[in-house]
Amino acid sequence: MYKIAAKKVLAPAIKQLQISAPEIAAGARPGQFIILRIDEKGERIPLTIADYDPRGGTITLVFQEAGRTTMELGRLEEGDAILDIVGPLGKPTEIRRYGKVVCIGGGVGIAAIYPIARALKEAGNEIVSIIGARSRGQLILVEKIGAVSDSLEIVTEDGSGGRKGFVTGVLQDLLVSEEGIDLVMAIGPPAMMRAVAELTRPYRIRTVASLNPIMVDGIGMCGACRVTVGGKTRFACVDGPEFDAHLVDWSVLVQRARMFREEEKRAVEDYFSGSECRCGKR
Ligand SMILES: Cc1cc2nc3c(=O)[nH]c(=O)nc-3n(C[C@H](O)[C@H](O)[C@H](O)COP(=O)(O)OP(=O)(O)OC[C@H]3O[C@@H](n4cnc5c(N)ncnc54)[C@H](O)[C@@H]3O)c2cc1C
Ligand code: FES
Repeated sequence: MYKIAAKKVLAPAIKQLQISAPEIAAGARPGQFIILRIDEKGERIPLTIADYDPRGGTITLVFQEAGRTTMELGRLEEGDAILDIVGPLGKPTEIRRYGKVVCIGGGVGIAAIYPIARALKEAGNEIVSIIGARSRGQLILVEKIGAVSDSLEIVTEDGSGGRKGFVTGVLQDLLVSEEGIDLVMAIGPPAMMRAVAELTRPYRIRTVASLNPIMVDGIGMCGACRVTVGGKTRFACVDGPEFDAHLVDWSVLVQRARMFREEEKRAVEDYFSGSECRCGKR
């Protein structure tokens, strides 16, 4: 059992849990994730390790309540426990001195880009961060990202915080005005990562995206997370989750993510009708 040491609500429907998991915290590296199961009947879901403290023996998860399992997770409180957490999983981000790196986080992807931006900064890179959300209330971890960035651009779709528009608008301006961008890292909804890849492609700037296909076992056995990269099948859980964004077949990723829409809708309906609540808190 993994005990929740602290809980924070970062924005409506975006929650942060600090969880006691000493072995995972000791091995965690930027870009990696865990797969958890709340209880014995629970679905397995992957979440990025948004932070880790090897000394304190904790990992931090930040998640958007997107469906049944994340809603159940969001109802847990400090002192509650999670049955299983497997990790760290996936290949860590390749951290080295690239030069100037643009780190882009969209929505809850802001939390996932944070440990990467921090590690790249510690490795001596200049970090230009761009973070975006629908509105000001959905912007998370602004100070933390700012603290590891040489410059930070904030964007909201409705203009209620920072510049109005999308992260790609800021990136486009940077590509025109700034010379010498060596790497772009993007984490967020697939449509955002795809748009980032299309913008940087003509500039031939190395661009890395962290893919979020449906995952089940997280160890390369079930095939659920298969993605097409450079015309070849890859398993995001063991070969990724980070890939060259210029080589990703984005249509396959988006299409596969929609495969279980009906089942996911039904699971949320059941959850709200209380017919099968597993969290014990209703
Ligand atoms: C490597 C990786 C890291 C991730 N990190 C984060 C994170 O840090 N924070 C965060 O909020 N979300 C993260 N996600 C997405 C998160 O796993 C899904 O939001 C979650 O599984 C939804 O489950 P649900 O039952 O609440 O919702 P559902 O209603 O079941 O699904 C909502 C949507 O989430 C996706 N999804 C559903 N089940 C899975 C699954 N088993 N694996 C992957 N995606 C699924 C589907 O696209 C679906 O349309 C990550 C996904 C991957 C693959
Ligand atoms: S989640 Fe099963 S192969 Fe990747």
